[in-house]
This record gives sequence, structure tokens and C-alpha cells, in this order.
Amino acid sequence: MSSRKVGTQRAFDAAAADFAALGRYLWEPIGAATVAAAGLTEGDRVLDACCGTGASAIPAAHAVGAEGVVDALDLSGPMIGELRRLSAGLPQLRAHEADATAWDTGGYDVVQSALGIFFFPDMTDGTERLIARARSGGRAVFTIWRGGAMVAAGRHLGRAVAAVTESAPPPEREPSLIDRIDQAGPYAEWLSGRNLSDVDVVVNELRLTMTPEIAWLVVIGSGFRGLLDDLEPDVVERVRERYLESLRADGLTELDATTLIGSGTVR
Ligand SMILES: C[S@@+](CC[C@H](N)C(=O)[O-])C[C@H]1O[C@@H](n2cnc3c(N)ncnc32)[C@H](O)[C@@H]1O
Repeated sequence: MSSRKVGTQRAFDAAAADFAALGRYLWEPIGAATVAAAGLTEGDRVLDACCGTGASAIPAAHAVGAEGVVDALDLSGPMIGELRRLSAGLPQLRAHEADATAWDTGGYDVVQSALGIFFFPDMTDGTERLIARARSGGRAVFTIWRGGAMVAAGRHLGRAVAAVTESAPPPEREPSLIDRIDQAGPYAEWLSGRNLSDVDVVVNELRLTMTPEIAWLVVIGSGFRGLLDDLEPDVVERVRERYLESLRADGLTELDATTLIGSGTVR
């Protein structure tokens, strides 16, 4: 499986432990809000795609109880390993190292994915495949970043890496579908075209207080970690200092981490 992993995916593998450490500030509140929107009840069968270390899969497993099932999928073996450790007392949570777009079990009451669907090579096709795993009348819940969320951290990190390694700043990412649907209205419209009825999008405001500890966890506990690939530890330390200095100089004390939680009923 590792041969087909691209940069961001390798970063998630490397980030698993730090990802869990950032969790209580970032992933867990977003995961809890995602699960709340899913309206789970005891005994439900849930598919949690792109589960990471379980920010939404673990609260889902609590909500469905011992009679329910949560199949949690992630491409990253280290993430799945960390999730298995964190969910040892929850046998209803079954963690699988698997590509969510190729999962073929169906009939779930709820299909959910927090901050995952925009990683699919074809976001629309991958999301439709997930929706097709739910039973008719079941629910689908997909959480994405609202436009502008997290970008300031990436910008300061990119500049710090460029300055320390004396290289050109990373190029802007090519605009794609996610950039056109990262506000509530367009996101609801896009979801409504995906075999879902009664679509609702909730704006889940979140701001991270950027203490030096949290600001650095945002880098090493997320996909941003890919920017540190192949750098020696002493260079990473200089990047860390430069990045924190850049945030301070810019007066950046809070990071927007607002998400859009979209849900609907599967036709
Ligand atoms: C930003 S993390 C979110 C993790 C978790 N849902 C959370 O909210 O904390 C995105 C995750 O998606 C996983 N991922 C990306 N593409 C995937 C795919 N096709 N199938 C399964 N997992 C995937 C990555 O390995 C990574 O763990």
C-alpha cells in the first residue's frame, strides 16, 4: 500500500502520535460536532471514513453502544494502530487500514467522514461511493474546512521553510472543487446533487489559541507536516523557531479552524 502513497499521505503516517496530541484542541471538538449532526442511536451501524485516530469514530462508538458497529477506515497504518490503542475498550469499533473509496460493505445506517472527503483523488466520485454504502433512508455526514480555515498556519510555515532552506516558497495549490464549495451555500448545493435529500449545513465556528505549543502541534500533528519531509532535525528546529517568530511578528494569536458540517438523508 505504501508505494501508492503521495506526500500528504506519508505526512499522515509520520504524524500519527502528534496527530493524537493535537486532537484535543482540534480534531476532537470537530469530531464530536460531526457525530452530533449524525444523530446516532444505540445499535446503529456506522461507517466512519478517513477516521485518523478516531476523533469521530470513538464518540460514534460510544453513541451506538455495544449493540452497534462502527467500521472506521483509514489509509494510514500508523493512524489505525493509534486508533486501535485508543479504542481498546470498545469492541464495537472495528478499525481497518483501507481505502474508503474502495470499501464494499453496505447497508450502514450512517456514513460519516470528518475532514476526509477532500483528500479523495476525485472528491465527487469518492463521496458518492461513500453515500452508496448507506441504506436508503440512512444518513450521511461530511465535514470540511470553511474557506480560509487553517491557511494562515500553512502560509507562515511555508515562509519559514523557504527562509531556513533558502529555497523558493511553495507554489500556491491549484484551485479545485473544494475551493468552490467551501462556504455553506455552495456546499449544501453540491451535497444536494449527491443522492441526498433534506441537506443541512451547519457552520461550526472554532478558533485555536496559538500558544507556541499548539502552534507547533498544528504543524507536526496535521498534513502540514509534509512540508518538513526530508529535513534534518536541526533544520526542523530552525524552521520551528522561524515559524513561531513569524506568527509573533504578524500578531497571529488565533487560528481560524471553522468547519462546515453537511448532512442529509440518503434517497
Ligand atoms: C485530516 S485527517 C482527519 C482524520 C479524522 N477524521 C479526524 O477528524 O481527526 C484525514 C485522514 O484521511 C485519511 N485518508 C485520506 N484519503 C483516504 C482514503 N482514500 N481512504 C481512507 N483514509 C483516507 C488520511 O490518512 C488521514 O488520516
